[in-house]
Amino acid sequence: MKRVLRRSASKHASTLFKVIVILVLCSFIIYLRSEDHELQKNTVIHGPRSNSKEEEEVLKPNADNDQTFIAAVLVFCATRPDALRNHLSQLLAQRPSHFQYHVIISQDGNKTSVAQVASRFVKDFKNVTHIQHEKTEIKKRNNYPAISAHYKWALDKVFKEFRYDHVIVTEDDLDIGNDFFSYFHWGKQVLNTDDTIWQIDDVQCIIVFRCVSAWNDNGGSNIIDTKRGDLVWRTDFFPGLGWMLSRELWDELSPGFPAAYWDDWMRKPEVRKNRSCIHPEISRTSHNMKLAGKGSSGGMFKDYLSKISASNANVDFSLLPTTVVLKLSYDKRLIEEIEDAKPIDLQNTTNMEKTYNYKIPYKNIRDWHQLAAHFKLMTDIRGGMQRTAYYGVVTVMYNMCRIFVVPESTYQDPSQLTNYVYDPDWDKQNRFIEFETYYCKTKKYLGKCDPHSPEMIAFFKKKGWKKRLDDWGEMIVV
Ligand SMILES: *[C@@H]1O[C@H](CO)[C@@H](O)[C@H](O)[C@H]1NC(C)=O
Ligand SMILES: *[C@@H]1O[C@H](CO)[C@@H](O)[C@H](O)[C@H]1NC(C)=O
Ligand SMILES: *[C@@H]1O[C@H](CO)[C@@H](O)[C@H](O)[C@H]1NC(C)=O
Ligand SMILES: *[C@@H]1O[C@H](CO)[C@@H](O)[C@H](O)[C@H]1NC(C)=O
Repeated sequence: MKRVLRRSASKHASTLFKVIVILVLCSFIIYLRSEDHELQKNTVIHGPRSNSKEEEEVLKPNADNDQTFIAAVLVFCATRPDALRNHLSQLLAQRPSHFQYHVIISQDGNKTSVAQVASRFVKDFKNVTHIQHEKTEIKKRNNYPAISAHYKWALDKVFKEFRYDHVIVTEDDLDIGNDFFSYFHWGKQVLNTDDTIWQIDDVQCIIVFRCVSAWNDNGGSNIIDTKRGDLVWRTDFFPGLGWMLSRELWDELSPGFPAAYWDDWMRKPEVRKNRSCIHPEISRTSHNMKLAGKGSSGGMFKDYLSKISASNANVDFSLLPTTVVLKLSYDKRLIEEIEDAKPIDLQNTTNMEKTYNYKIPYKNIRDWHQLAAHFKLMTDIRGGMQRTAYYGVVTVMYNMCRIFVVPESTYQDPSQLTNYVYDPDWDKQNRFIEFETYYCKTKKYLGKCDPHSPEMIAFFKKKGWKKRLDDWGEMIVV
């Protein structure tokens, strides 16, 4: 376990010598600061854009001596002492100060080895607290209800009882990037400034950010621009996995918080209410596969997750203007980017030139699946949305080029970007495509692929697989 290093002053140096050293150091610091200032003025930072030389400049870190409180970090854990130790060591090694961030370890259940790790950190560091949620009687096989109950309980506790107004939610199986705190400090400002007021048909609606996430669902090093530590995107798809929310949002979510699958619930249109989150190009969190195992989704996404590693970009986000992700300017720039991008189709993705951005349209879920498979994007759909989608636009780096995968309507006329509406039927269509891939493409079933047809139902019954069929859930044949 790492402890914070304490600086010890030499007892033998004469007072005069100390004064001289301090004076020299001060003028050096003033000199460095003025350099910083130049950097700040001269660094041009764009949002969703790539490939220009000036933007490759990664911002330099900047010491922050401000002791003002910023946020609580709520760490969820249950049964993995080694994972918790790893996660807390990283958090506390990087925490800029115990005044700025309070760490609250929320343990589900009473596993002794986990409680011991938590107590150790509470003892060794300031402003670290350990709270315990009693485990209710839940079958081991399905822990989604337990996870939801724990989330609700702990978030109620930190917002309603401890009265924090901003909370960063993490989990014990996450590794964090070395600019994790800088990112969230900046993210807090973003959360508080995006009160974009819209006038649509004389109706005023306020669209605010829902969250700031450190996670990129399509963040594998093979499909991102690894030089763009400063690049941040808006997304309609709630990413989770290291994310900040405000008390205002929790007050809204808490009463209806679901009994299971809370993250998918967050992605429902009626819960999302057209609001977006932001996420970085380069993930600031990653799954520690070794310490945490498969994760709650049963290893389903292991191939994708293992390619995502936490950033060591060390970006000073305080130098990044919040306007890069505020809706009006962001949308305007994204529209321009899509306008300027060159058309490409799947046959000629090898002929691209590094100096351009490219765009490729999709009309329906089959198109989407084909493109996603080609570019190695995650294919799954929630609330009609693809992971990382913003008004249906998903971006990826491929052969060193930025590609925008865009809905047909936006491809035809990029200015229509914000008119795109997600179709919740895509969830059921997507389920069918997965079903088809599993049973029909593999020739397990040779007839016409339609789970509603009497022939196919009879086939499942004959095999004794009727329950399997029911478990797929509602499907729409496409
Ligand atoms: C914890 O942080 C708060 C400010 O955020 C500070 O006032 C307090 O002194 C800190 N607690 C300890 C034990 O240092
Ligand atoms: C944990 O809680 C259960 C249920 O209340 C109890 O039976 C068990 O003895 C507790 N274990 C420890 C280590 O405290
Ligand atoms: C979201 O935006 C669409 C299109 O502007 C609108 O029709 C819909 O009512 C909005 N939904 C909510 C919940 O605000
Ligand atoms: C790729 O194909 C599209 C459509 O056929 C065409 O418009 C575009 O110019 C081609 N791009 C390259 C780089 O060859």
